[in-house]
Amino acid sequence: MTTAKQVRITDVSPRDGLQNEAGQVSTDDKFRLVGMLAAAGVDEVECTSFVSPKWVPQLADSAALVTRINALGGAGPASLEQVDPTPEWAEYLAGDSPCEFSVLVPNEKGMESFLDANVNPARPMEAPPLVQKIAVFTAASETFSKRNTNATIAETLERFVPVISRAQQHLLSVRGYISCVIACPFEGPIAPQRVADVAAKLAEMGCDEIDLGDTIGAGTPETVTTMIQAVSQRLGGLRLNRLGQPVVVLHLHDTFGRAGECVRAALDCGIRSFDASVAGLGGCPYAGTPGKPAPGNIATELLVRIIHDAGYTTGVRPARLAEAASFARSTVTKARAAAAAGGVS
Ligand code: HMG
Ligand code: MG
Repeated sequence: MTTAKQVRITDVSPRDGLQNEAGQVSTDDKFRLVGMLAAAGVDEVECTSFVSPKWVPQLADSAALVTRINALGGAGPASLEQVDPTPEWAEYLAGDSPCEFSVLVPNEKGMESFLDANVNPARPMEAPPLVQKIAVFTAASETFSKRNTNATIAETLERFVPVISRAQQHLLSVRGYISCVIACPFEGPIAPQRVADVAAKLAEMGCDEIDLGDTIGAGTPETVTTMIQAVSQRLGGLRLNRLGQPVVVLHLHDTFGRAGECVRAALDCGIRSFDASVAGLGGCPYAGTPGKPAPGNIATELLVRIIHDAGYTTGVRPARLAEAASFARSTVTKARAAAAAGGVS
């Protein structure tokens, strides 16, 4: 449940962060990172992605990771021993602050692979899997949509129809991402009305959340405000969904170091749900210069600090988040070194 002063935090580092990392992080380290983030008190962790491993080899172990997370579902002492949780997972499972776990799914094939993995291997019949949410993704820019998914915006929406229907059959909630809500790396500035048009379609199709992605971190407080106002007007206000969560989410990349200012502007506009990556993992493949990739998502630590300083609350414990950030940095450093030497960390 979200109150007027409470802000919902989704950490997307295991997906958006690691998909843009040069190195291949091991499934063990991904599993530990997800547990650390849940124990730190974020509301949701986007764990991985069921996209083509040819496009995103960093997340080719998505089924293995989901199976491992789900083995903890409804875990009593017996199944905990069976899956050998990390201390952070054990702490999270013993606590009473639920975290949602979600995955990115682009099409029916990805949905099939996800559903195959999304069972609790320890107790397939009794305990529900821990992953109860999927995210589909499209864009407000035709060129970006083609480059990112090999499909026009309309074609991506058609692909979502059976995916959303399967999600609803399995009682999973659905997030719908829109990329390039401020600007596109190929088309330049994007008109807010184009974002609002796509947002309205995703809402009509049954998405519980509409997630506004400033993919290349081009936003300023002014452009972010104008875009949020256009989306809010088209959706009939910034409502809560059937789960009591804000429908509209803001997903900022910090390419030019202005994401923090945009968070403050978005709070003033009424946004109460944000994405971020612990340690600012990842980088933007569409910005930066050779050998110097642009920064990734806004760091979760920075996001939480800005939100708390502005007088809002989150469920996040900053000291525990700092531990997750430290672990994330060390695992990525290890993976980069292994990649440079030609292996997996
Ligand atoms: P496609 O090539 O158009 O698909 O990919 P296709 O249907 O023609 O199939 C081609 C091959 O891919 C086939 O294999 C399929 O089986 C396979 P082949 O016969 O050649 O061996 N394939 C798959 N394999 C595994 N899982 C699947 C899958 N689908 C097809 N789900 C597709 C279409 C969307 C899958 C592809 O374009 C893709 O994977 N793109 C990756 C896009 C991506 O992951 N982008 C990053 C995430 S979005 C993002 O970061 C933005 C966000 O953070 C918000 C923001 O910041 O703006 C969310
Ligand atoms: Mg992103």
